[in-house]
Amino acid sequence: MKILFVVSEVAPYVKTGGLGEVMNALPKEIHRLGHEIAIFTPLHGKIDRQRHPLLSISRSKILRIGRRKIAHRFFASLISQEVPIYFFDQPELFGARDQVYGGEDGNYRYLVFNKAVFSLLETLNWTPDIIHCHDWPAGLIPNYLAQMNRKSSWKKIKTVFTIHNPAFTGTANAWQIAPELKDDVESPIPVDPKKLSYLNFLERGIRFADVVTTVSELHAKELLAPETDHGLRELLATKKRHFYGIRNGIDYNLFNPRVDPNLPVNYDVGLLHRKNDNKRALQHRLGLKIDDKIPLLGMNTRISEQKGFDLIFEVLPKALELGAQFVVVGTGHGAYIETLNAYAKKYPNQVAYRPYSEELGSLVYAGVDLFLMPSRYEPSGLGQMVSLRYGSIPLVRRTGGLANTITDYNSKTDTGNGFVFDSYTGDELLTTIKRALKVFRSKKRWWELMRRAMDTSYSWELPAKRYLRIYQLATR
Ligand code: GLC
Repeated sequence: MKILFVVSEVAPYVKTGGLGEVMNALPKEIHRLGHEIAIFTPLHGKIDRQRHPLLSISRSKILRIGRRKIAHRFFASLISQEVPIYFFDQPELFGARDQVYGGEDGNYRYLVFNKAVFSLLETLNWTPDIIHCHDWPAGLIPNYLAQMNRKSSWKKIKTVFTIHNPAFTGTANAWQIAPELKDDVESPIPVDPKKLSYLNFLERGIRFADVVTTVSELHAKELLAPETDHGLRELLATKKRHFYGIRNGIDYNLFNPRVDPNLPVNYDVGLLHRKNDNKRALQHRLGLKIDDKIPLLGMNTRISEQKGFDLIFEVLPKALELGAQFVVVGTGHGAYIETLNAYAKKYPNQVAYRPYSEELGSLVYAGVDLFLMPSRYEPSGLGQMVSLRYGSIPLVRRTGGLANTITDYNSKTDTGNGFVFDSYTGDELLTTIKRALKVFRSKKRWWELMRRAMDTSYSWELPAKRYLRIYQLATR
């Protein structure tokens, strides 16, 4: 099978969240299963060209949008020697911008990128069986294909659209747009900049794709249920037997405490006593009190409302009273970061915040005792799977992919690989933190829990095979 992934971010080139991380792993696994796969993504200004040398593969070409002519080129590189990655080079829209998303013309940027897919296929003289579109920034491709003349050789390409985050529908999110201005998801794709700014890329992707997926089994159910559907229930119901949930995995070579170069001390399940050296290193690095016995709670996350910061701030003073420490590494929403900094200032021995870096991210995975993900919603979540791998115990809310991967600790049967709470309230979060701290104080139980966590495996093999079945379904 020949598959092209279209996506706005690919780690290690550019990553703002889990989406980029998935792109660095799933394609390799699909390739390993014997299929031809390539990735198409914008050449963002943020990409470090020293670190990632790219090869020009085309002369300058022209793309037409309405009356506008857009000059562009393509570059190429390899992810892990096997999966080619093609970059859309358009300096004005991408290369000269700092932001991966956003800008006044945010939708226009990605509309042009979506159209450029066909220019790329022409350049490569290649026709994939499947174009797999990820999230809203690739949402117009199924729509373009549907509009295409029957005689076009691309008409036989099938599309799969994956929802990684249902809240993002375009540069302006659906809930920010007045009802009378909302996109009807049916009319021809506009070129007029004003109309374009209301275009709902996500819904168009769903509407016109041959098969739609999201990133966990439970989230697929949530998207079909009132309250948790992000307004997509009716549209998704029209897909009937063409909407599936496939959980994400993590790359066990990339996330491996035994070889992770970012850790001061490497360890694995057989050398678990070394994990504490990383805890001390993290405490030291962030200026917290250095002490093995203090429970260290932490997050490594995109900082946004979705991730449960409102709940965290509601219970933090009480958790600190219990003697816990709390660290956050991540980048995102300014107001939350200000609050984190204010807490860090008030409790310098107990609270610390640092912007995201790969190194600090790893140190959090290895150094904390409890890894918090009290998300309001979570299509998949990767952090909980990585923290399991590092023996840091996830404490999560029972939603989406978190519920699919973490089972609650049961002291009677001594089962479970984390701590899980149900309703999105501060009370439940605090009760669950208290419950976890009680187990933490019993060294033996905690060690068993850590071992069990490290034994859980969420590799990409199974999900990759499921995607292949989806591709077969789409081409049937
Ligand atoms: C989005 C979702 C997250 C998921 C990631 C990759 O960031 O919020 O839950 O893990 O996409 O699919």
